[in-house]
Amino acid sequence: MVLAKHIANSSMPSLRIARVLSLISAALAGILPALSALPQPSSNCQRKCGQVDIPYPFGIGSDDSPNHCTLPGFNLSCVDTGGHDYRPFYGNVEVVGIFLQKGQARMRMSISSYCYNTTSKDMDQDEWIPDLTGTPYAFSDTGNEFTVVGCSTLAYIGDEENVGKLTSGCVSTCQRGNVSALTNGTCSGIGCCQTAIPKGLQYFEVWFDQRFNTSEIYNTSRCSYAALVEASNFTFSTSYATSPAFYDTYSGQTPLLVDWAIRNETCEKAQSRPGLYACVSSNSQCFNSINGPGYVCNCSEGFQGNPYLVEGCKGNESAYMNRLR
Ligand SMILES: *[C@@H]1O[C@H](CO)[C@@H](O)[C@H](O)[C@H]1NC(C)=O
Ligand SMILES: *[C@@H]1O[C@H](CO)[C@@H](O)[C@H](O)[C@H]1NC(C)=O
Ligand SMILES: *[C@@H]1O[C@H](CO)[C@@H](O)[C@H](O)[C@H]1NC(C)=O
Ligand SMILES: *[C@@H]1O[C@H](CO)[C@@H](O)[C@H](O)[C@H]1NC(C)=O
Ligand SMILES: *[C@@H]1O[C@H](CO)[C@@H](O)[C@H](O)[C@H]1NC(C)=O
Ligand SMILES: *[C@@H]1O[C@H](CO)[C@@H](O)[C@H](O)[C@H]1NC(C)=O
Ligand SMILES: *[C@@H]1O[C@H](CO)[C@@H](O)[C@H](O)[C@H]1NC(C)=O
Ligand SMILES: *[C@@H]1O[C@H](CO)[C@@H](O)[C@H](O)[C@H]1NC(C)=O
Ligand SMILES: *[C@@H]1O[C@H](CO)[C@@H](O)[C@H](O)[C@H]1NC(C)=O
Repeated sequence: MVLAKHIANSSMPSLRIARVLSLISAALAGILPALSALPQPSSNCQRKCGQVDIPYPFGIGSDDSPNHCTLPGFNLSCVDTGGHDYRPFYGNVEVVGIFLQKGQARMRMSISSYCYNTTSKDMDQDEWIPDLTGTPYAFSDTGNEFTVVGCSTLAYIGDEENVGKLTSGCVSTCQRGNVSALTNGTCSGIGCCQTAIPKGLQYFEVWFDQRFNTSEIYNTSRCSYAALVEASNFTFSTSYATSPAFYDTYSGQTPLLVDWAIRNETCEKAQSRPGLYACVSSNSQCFNSINGPGYVCNCSEGFQGNPYLVEGCKGNESAYMNRLR
């Protein structure tokens, strides 16, 4: 609704700008054919959603809009989460930050839990399965840790329960519920465990080993938790193993990093097909993705800005002066 209104209100100036832009790019095309190749986004595109900047190739709305606000797969929706608190989402996953230079984005994903139910006297499992297959995103293997919190738990992360090729697990115990052995800031198997995830993961499941449960220690540690967490965002607190504090601190969702890329072609292949090559700025460079297929763009040294926009990389004058010296 909001986006549709925004476009309708400004359709006249947008046409005029688009016409001027196409004249400029036609002029440029005469000199430098490669520059005009990939259609450029209209200046009308929404570039902020709530507190989050949305730089191209990301954009708000449909990824086939005539304004070319986004490259395919990079379109987000800007959702009112209540009381005019707008936040960008990819499907049902919240995006809390986009980092062009690193080819990364920060998302929030749900914490899985495994809790003893004193009524049914059974374990209740609540798990969430993030699925980014076929998208430009892959979970960062360097920026995240699979994090497990609890006093008697073994949790797994993998691409498919029991049959997957990519599986990691982590055990956490507390000496039969003796919580005085827990230490703040230390996550090494007592009340807390962390392990790395494999490269190339775009989909995962979290599951708990039923042989480790809290049916004997529910008075001190009723629930176990597991989540993929941005490593720099997590510090173990002893209360996480003995109460819902972990879940509550993160409101049920931890931040994590995803690597994104212009999928499927290498730099070499994409450069040979100008109509598809996304590093359109002069003074930009192409790098093959280090997590999955595809490539990312960056401004060359001494230049800053958006390599995915024509003339998006701007010279840094002092760096330029230094080089002249
Ligand atoms: C992106 O655009 C496509 C259609 O072009 C649409 O099906 C999809 O839902 C959009 N994604 C988001 C997150 O808005
Ligand atoms: C892009 O350039 C920035 C600053 O020069 C650098 O920090 C970053 O690592 C580069 N990214 C890639 C993917 O090379
Ligand atoms: C415990 O199990 C009962 C019966 O299966 C269910 O009604 C109740 O919601 C569960 N309690 C919690 C806290 O999940
Ligand atoms: C990349 O290729 C895979 C396998 O051919 C396909 O499933 C996926 O949708 C492609 N991704 C994109 C972003 O085009
Ligand atoms: C609990 O752990 C503490 C510290 O490791 C230890 O001193 C104490 O003896 C343990 N208590 C029991 C009941 O095992
Ligand atoms: C760990 O830190 C929390 C919060 O700062 C505090 O409440 C708790 O007592 C600390 N635990 C220990 C064992 O020092
Ligand atoms: C808890 O684990 C024990 C030992 O592995 C097992 O015998 C018991 O059935 C499990 N209890 C529940 C509620 O899953
Ligand atoms: C947990 O506490 C309740 C009430 O204090 C008690 O009846 C029960 O035996 C305790 N359970 C365990 C496993 O210690
Ligand atoms: C952890 O991430 C949340 C959400 O992105 C942020 O509000 C918080 O400041 C971060 N904390 C640390 C210690 O990085």
